[in-house]
Amino acid sequence: MRASLLIVGITLLAAACEPTPTQPEDVRTLLALPDHFETPFVPEDNPLTGAKIELGRHLFYDRRLSANGTQACSDCHEQARAFSDGRRTPVGSTGQTLERNSQGLGNVAYSASLTWASASLVHLEDQIAIPLRNDDPIELGVTDGVVDEVLQRFAADATYPRLFAEAFPESSSGPTMGKILLALASFCRSLISANSPYDRFLAGEPDALTEAQRRGLTLFNGERFECFHCHGGTQFTSNYRDASDTELRLSFFNNGLYNVGGDGSYPPYDQGLYELTFDLRHRGLFRPPNLRNVEHTAPYMHDGSLETLRDVLLHYARGGRLIESGPLAGDGRLSPLRSGLVRGFTATDDEIDAVVSFLESLSDPSFLADPRYASPFAGP
Ligand code: HEC
Ligand code: HEC
Repeated sequence: MRASLLIVGITLLAAACEPTPTQPEDVRTLLALPDHFETPFVPEDNPLTGAKIELGRHLFYDRRLSANGTQACSDCHEQARAFSDGRRTPVGSTGQTLERNSQGLGNVAYSASLTWASASLVHLEDQIAIPLRNDDPIELGVTDGVVDEVLQRFAADATYPRLFAEAFPESSSGPTMGKILLALASFCRSLISANSPYDRFLAGEPDALTEAQRRGLTLFNGERFECFHCHGGTQFTSNYRDASDTELRLSFFNNGLYNVGGDGSYPPYDQGLYELTFDLRHRGLFRPPNLRNVEHTAPYMHDGSLETLRDVLLHYARGGRLIESGPLAGDGRLSPLRSGLVRGFTATDDEIDAVVSFLESLSDPSFLADPRYASPFAGP
């Protein structure tokens, strides 16, 4: 599918053809961004407005947006779990199991590329079409044959015609798939988490972090643990973009989770970026996830194969995962494709606990309960 990509190494640079957003000031106000957050990139053809966010919020929580009326975006992206779902891998509206873990959506506006491993999905508008429209695997299942029926549900509703008209005042054509994607992307972009203890620490409150969390922060940013190389910056990922970025920095790494058969392979059903490029060197390349609210997005990694944050730390300390038997057997530490930044390190239990508690300081309870992100349908 993306065989034309020529990538060597871990960081891709692609010229950005998108213009800078038109009204960055309005975006900052609309999203109530604190000073230490940059303005996120917003594509020029989908300027952010409160009315679009509100329409998107309704659609995000509405099961009528699935072909068979049984599933909404929010069934795989729950607010109380920072918009992940707590499962290893989710099940779509018709019962098909997906290969990958549902991602948290907090601050997704700052991701340079979307999903666990794609170099081509760089706009939320494009990414969201996948769960909505895909037929293999089916998520919401709004394939071509059922589009009209689904749109009719919204056109005939008591509230939606007004919401669509307010969100798209220049158009009188009522609900369309295009408008639905623009509104859902706007809602996802509005999901800002900026009020964790770590944010208060950055804003000048040293006591917002416990002593252990401050030690964990130092270890996280140190050369022994190496976390910051791939999870640096305000969003804890090198796969980062804001409105000032004129080029896309897409970064993907193999962190030694698998070494099937000893040649660096990942499980045959999901080899990361390789699935799109068919370049053998891209086996096991995944995007470093944003770590905000990571305490609430277990289980971890693209396939949900690590249960706890402590398991994640032990994985990095070992320098790769050992799977002793079965079809996926192999020692990730010996993988020829593992990143040189995942070398393994010696750490005391106390140090591991400190980094885990630092990661917990990225939790933002106000984000998990913010009524602006909650279902508009929840009754008393
Ligand atoms: C059946 C479960 C399921 C449903 C329904 C679902 N998603 Fe997802 N979502 C996922 C999974 C799994 C991923 C990761 C996909 C991958 O890496 O290939 C994901 C990824 C995403 C991402 C990318 C996040 C990132 O950090 O890059 C966004 C945005 C998103 N979903 C929004 C939505 C919206 C909006 C809807 C409703 C139209 C929706 N999802 C419906 C499971 C689901
Ligand atoms: C070489 C780059 C790299 C380094 C160094 C690195 N990570 Fe990661 N991290 C990744 C990638 C890539 C993933 C996703 C891998 C996958 O899903 O298979 C990931 C996943 C994670 C996850 C899971 C998040 C989720 O939502 O599932 C956590 C937590 C995490 N890393 C924490 C850390 C910590 C703590 C350190 C330091 C000990 C660290 N990482 C070092 C690249 C890195």
